[in-house]
Amino acid sequence: PTRHQGCCPRRWRRHRRFPSRGKRARLSDLYSAVSLSIGQPLSLLLKSEALVSNLSPYDIHGAPGVAADVRHIDSAGEVNGYAADKLDEALQGVEVVVIPAGVPRKPGMTRDDLFNTNASIVRDLATAVARNAPNPTSSSSPTRSTPSITTLDVVRASRFLSGIARTDPAQTPVTVVGGHSGVTIVPLLSQSSAGTAVEQGSEGWKALVHRIQYGGDEVVQAKDGAGSATLSMAYAAAKFTNLLLKALKGEAGIVIPTFVKSPLFAAQGIEFFSSAVELGPNGVKKIHDLGNITAQEQELVNAALPELKKNIEKGFAFAQ
Ligand code: LMR
Repeated sequence: PTRHQGCCPRRWRRHRRFPSRGKRARLSDLYSAVSLSIGQPLSLLLKSEALVSNLSPYDIHGAPGVAADVRHIDSAGEVNGYAADKLDEALQGVEVVVIPAGVPRKPGMTRDDLFNTNASIVRDLATAVARNAPNPTSSSSPTRSTPSITTLDVVRASRFLSGIARTDPAQTPVTVVGGHSGVTIVPLLSQSSAGTAVEQGSEGWKALVHRIQYGGDEVVQAKDGAGSATLSMAYAAAKFTNLLLKALKGEAGIVIPTFVKSPLFAAQGIEFFSSAVELGPNGVKKIHDLGNITAQEQELVNAALPELKKNIEKGFAFAQ
């Protein structure tokens, strides 16, 4: 979802234009550019999942239309779209809330540049979730029982490594730990079956790690002002959501890296951390530690921790 008020950075609002284009754009163009950009493909993917019995897309614009469209797909799930003033209604009786909300980056921007805007959107949605569906399993903001997803990094790591190792990405899982911004993204390539395709510490390994850490920038630059990852993001969100639904239904042994309130580095003041997490009927079942990692990977973890701590402190300060 996007918001009518304050959904774009102040300087875009002031100039009423996309920063990377000379041409003036109406504010409504900006909304339609960002509105449902992840939510639309995500709705399509989730409607195709057998485990989704009811799908309730919500946004300030366009959700009923998206719902009418995906409703025709020949899978059993029901679909009802909710307009801007129907958020409370959309949340009645839900089991899982997926929040792909936010304003996308433009070339030259960091995720931090959009922090206040996107955090405000998530805050308002999370408040509505708490008001209407007090016990759902949300796949966005990390509170005690609500995991947040870093699956896009996992998907990228698997795809990029398999491209080098010439393996099937589906058979090349990579555990990615830490957070989801630059150096906080730590791929544990040594733990992957194809990990030997890149020698730890080599130039090839460094380039692969960098590509995984800055995969978001690769897409932002390629889209050249038209936004950030939406399709791969939707794919990752659908993948995680489907695994979560399986776990909620009681399927055992579902483990995926997930950003959660975690004891792993709590002693160092880092309350949230993504590591391999077993999902179960109540959401988070077991948080795994990092396992065996190489000296080079330990260096990546060491570099990630201070940055992650700053990210988390910023989140806490915002919430307070
Ligand atoms: C990504 O990794 O693609 C997303 O976090 C979007 C972005 O701004 O990079």
